[in-house]
Amino acid sequence: MDHPALDHIALAVADIDAVAALYEDLFGLKLTHREQIDSQQVEMAFLGEEGATRLELIRPTTDNSGVARFLEKRGEGMHHIAFAVEDIAQTLADLKARGVQLIDEEPRPGAAGHLVAFIHPKAAHGTLIELVQHR
Ligand code: CO
Repeated sequence: MDHPALDHIALAVADIDAVAALYEDLFGLKLTHREQIDSQQVEMAFLGEEGATRLELIRPTTDNSGVARFLEKRGEGMHHIAFAVEDIAQTLADLKARGVQLIDEEPRPGAAGHLVAFIHPKAAHGTLIELVQHR
């Protein structure tokens, strides 16, 4: 494959249990990982098996986090897409050299100890894009 795989699609939700139950009921997707990340004031859950494109559910744990503001403004729904890359630092350096507007210029720890970084939606016609390097 000469392009990065779509790793996951993330949905901003108000109630992880309700949405996880819905996807299990409709499509048999099982909740395989759940984690609270206090530095980002979110709880997240992954549905589906690692190795397949998964769904990520994100719920704000405070009223003033970025995801809380997203929910307030836009309601529940798609939040970002994520591509898996082999060398996130190199990918970020390449994008930066091309003048792509980044939210994270350096990788930071995300769910399950993976390294993540976000590209600004202004650089991608309104879609927030995450890069993830699996540990
Ligand atoms: Co994500």
